[in-house]
Amino acid sequence: SRPIVVLGIETSCDDTAAAVVTGDGCVLGETNRHQHAAHEAFGGIVPSLAASHHMASVGEVVRDALRQAGVGGSGGSGRSDGLAGIDAVAVTRGPGMAASLCVGLAAAKTLAAVHGLPLVGVHHMEAHALVARMGRGGAVAFPFLCVLVSGGHTLTAVAHGVNAYTAIGATRDDSAGDAFDKVARELRIPWLTTQDGGGPGAALERMAAAGDAARFAMPVPMDKSASAASPDFSFSGLKEHVRSLRRANAFDPAIPRDQADVAAAFQRAAATHLRKKTALAARRARDMGVAITCIVAAGGVVSNHAVRAALAAVAAAEGVPLECPPPRLCADNAVMVAWAGIERLRCGLTDAYTIDFIQRWPL
Ligand code: KG4
Ligand code: ZN
Repeated sequence: SRPIVVLGIETSCDDTAAAVVTGDGCVLGETNRHQHAAHEAFGGIVPSLAASHHMASVGEVVRDALRQAGVGGSGGSGRSDGLAGIDAVAVTRGPGMAASLCVGLAAAKTLAAVHGLPLVGVHHMEAHALVARMGRGGAVAFPFLCVLVSGGHTLTAVAHGVNAYTAIGATRDDSAGDAFDKVARELRIPWLTTQDGGGPGAALERMAAAGDAARFAMPVPMDKSASAASPDFSFSGLKEHVRSLRRANAFDPAIPRDQADVAAAFQRAAATHLRKKTALAARRARDMGVAITCIVAAGGVVSNHAVRAALAAVAAAEGVPLECPPPRLCADNAVMVAWAGIERLRCGLTDAYTIDFIQRWPL
């Protein structure tokens, strides 16, 4: 019997993405259309603009992913042979921007309903966490601690099983990725020079490599008294600290040496904060009586080597491996949505064609 094949669609943020994935973890087709350039001039994601880009792209993106997988090809006749070979349609149902979620959800529901296929609504965070299991043949077993650190989210949670999570810590203000991006802007690191797709955070990391992290004092967030025991995160203070340094002319973003030293100090403080709070989350898991098998780290910020080393230190202290999906599966993508759909299908979790998006959706 052939493995199950699922089409996944992701439109929760600024990627219009579709992928065809098999139950044994093979990616048969994948298309991801980023909107980075469209939002750059506004210095952040503009929800209405994101939705109209999804609307323009979703049809072609889904078609291209299916064609790569050999599904729906026209065979020269100009007419598609439908969704033959696809067993279910999975789609990000939330959390995310409402108008953007609607585009993917409408496309997925229509495809599933017309072809009589099961529909699987997926929680975006669950997809980030579960994709670490894809093609690993049980090597990443439940329960595990997941640490999601990206531009959209900064959180820790215990994954007990499919559809069973306990949220532990979350950011109280900015995401970690946001802090990297905003500090990069304070340092006048141009976004456009980062062709590798890592964004301003990756550019900041390159700059920090030559820097002296000790030259500027950079307070580690939530390190004092009451908040020291909380597993939550906070990144706005670091951003503000860099801002106040610049206002006080403590550094000059026109001087490469200053840029590098501030970047290095910020990166070290951010990594230390992530290490301390992830260690607290691991302790919480233990206090709950959960024996985690590994720590799964995902999100664009985990591609940062200082951050990765900090999380590896927590895993080592817990005596478990650190599992990081490859960067292309860490950033937003549709493979993770298709894979989460496969995991949910295996548990018999499908949804009615009438489901709506869920803009705010706790894990
Ligand atoms: O997971 P992701 O690709 O997209 C979502 O936000 O969902 O994460 C993007 C974030 C951006 O803020 C980007 O600057 C940051 O991840 N990032 C990094 C690095 N590469 C990407 N931050 C620090 N160091 C990096 N090497
Ligand atoms: Zn995401």
